[in-house]
Amino acid sequence: MPNDTFPSDFIWGAATAAYQIEGAADEDGRGESVWDRFSATPGKVRNGDSGAVACDFYHRYRDDVALMRDLGLDAFRFSIAWPRVLPEGRGRVNEAGLDFYDKLVDELLAHDIEPFPTLFHWDTPQVLEDAGGWTSRATAEAFVEYTEAVVARLGDRVRRWTTHNEPWVVAWIGHAWGEHAPGRESEADAVAASHHLLLSHGWAAEAIRQGSPDAEVGITLNLSHAYPATDSPEDEAAAWQVDGEGNRWFLDPVFRGHYPADLLERNELVAPHVREGDLDAISAPIDFLGVNNYFRFVVSRGSDRPNIVHDPTAQYTDMGWEVYPDGLHHLLVRVGEDYAPAAIYVTENGAAFGDARTHDGRVHDPERTAYITDYVDAVSRAVADGAPVKGYFVWSLLDNFEWAHGYSKRFGIVYIDYPTLERVPKDSFYWYRDFIASRRGAPRPSPVATG
Ligand code: FCB
Repeated sequence: MPNDTFPSDFIWGAATAAYQIEGAADEDGRGESVWDRFSATPGKVRNGDSGAVACDFYHRYRDDVALMRDLGLDAFRFSIAWPRVLPEGRGRVNEAGLDFYDKLVDELLAHDIEPFPTLFHWDTPQVLEDAGGWTSRATAEAFVEYTEAVVARLGDRVRRWTTHNEPWVVAWIGHAWGEHAPGRESEADAVAASHHLLLSHGWAAEAIRQGSPDAEVGITLNLSHAYPATDSPEDEAAAWQVDGEGNRWFLDPVFRGHYPADLLERNELVAPHVREGDLDAISAPIDFLGVNNYFRFVVSRGSDRPNIVHDPTAQYTDMGWEVYPDGLHHLLVRVGEDYAPAAIYVTENGAAFGDARTHDGRVHDPERTAYITDYVDAVSRAVADGAPVKGYFVWSLLDNFEWAHGYSKRFGIVYIDYPTLERVPKDSFYWYRDFIASRRGAPRPSPVATG
């Protein structure tokens, strides 16, 4: 990428989430989360896997931060586990749970790495789910209590906060399709959950501003550009519907203060229970939008719902997700133009492939390296076209617990040998390390000899 357009203060990062890496599920007073319960329910997660041990990041974070330093990261995106901080969901604060994040933040800062925390990456306290979970407004109120406790402890050192990660996934995959925790299967629950997630974002953003006035606040959405399969009006309408359900349902309330009218008409029966003032809270200005992107949609008209078209000539990852870097370019330019966010961070992008260690002990992952190279190039083109992108986080630093897929999908640029928990940087790790170093003129001195 010799002519790329990244400014010198562009943030190069890597992303993770608490339940996917931490393990230590029963330690230091952590409460049960919906993902503990879901993983323990037979048939929900492949191979009966759970996050009980995961990458054991809870005990190994110092070694992992050393690895991040070797990689040359500017920022580390992680999430905070609500049930560690408020085991009962609200009320009593478990200081021992906060201690972990306190130490992690200090360790990162000591290595010149910006902590880039997300408050909610899907691990709702189970007690709150038992009382209605995200279908209930009370969970949004509890989220504010949780936010206040975290900001009171970490707000002196964290500069950028993300409230939620991918509310679409929580709402629909968790509440309508039953494939993620909490495993509900009701469209009405999904719509209610989406509204309360957004509402809690707005309220939490306000709480962060109160508790840490200089901090920046954002929300991360999973967005995918939707292309019509042909230029027929029917396919275009189908693509617009898919764009509405996945993208505009969240972008419009956050940036424009209303749900998209075309979808409200369609969803008449399950319209969200919006109260006076909700949309003002949801649309209060934010400092950045986080964008997670892995694939695009190609859409044609179906008999009853839009059809997602599969291109047999395209390359797909181990998740069955199409590799299409231009989709990220188009998405970033479009979101920049239509919604004018103050800044965008690509908070997740990456690929799962069937990695294995070879006889030399290394993990050669040319497909992932090519994926990241091409998507980073797409980000560079978006910046050149005026999209306000300020950073990029690869998903993921480590192989980890990939939700309903358990440990069967490997997204890491570092391989985890699960029986021993040994970390093995993959070739893509070295590529990213060299790429980051090349952007800085002189490489930073490396405390660990690798490569
Ligand atoms: C995203 C999630 C993240 C990870 C990647 C592959 O939807 O935010 O936790 O599972 O997908």
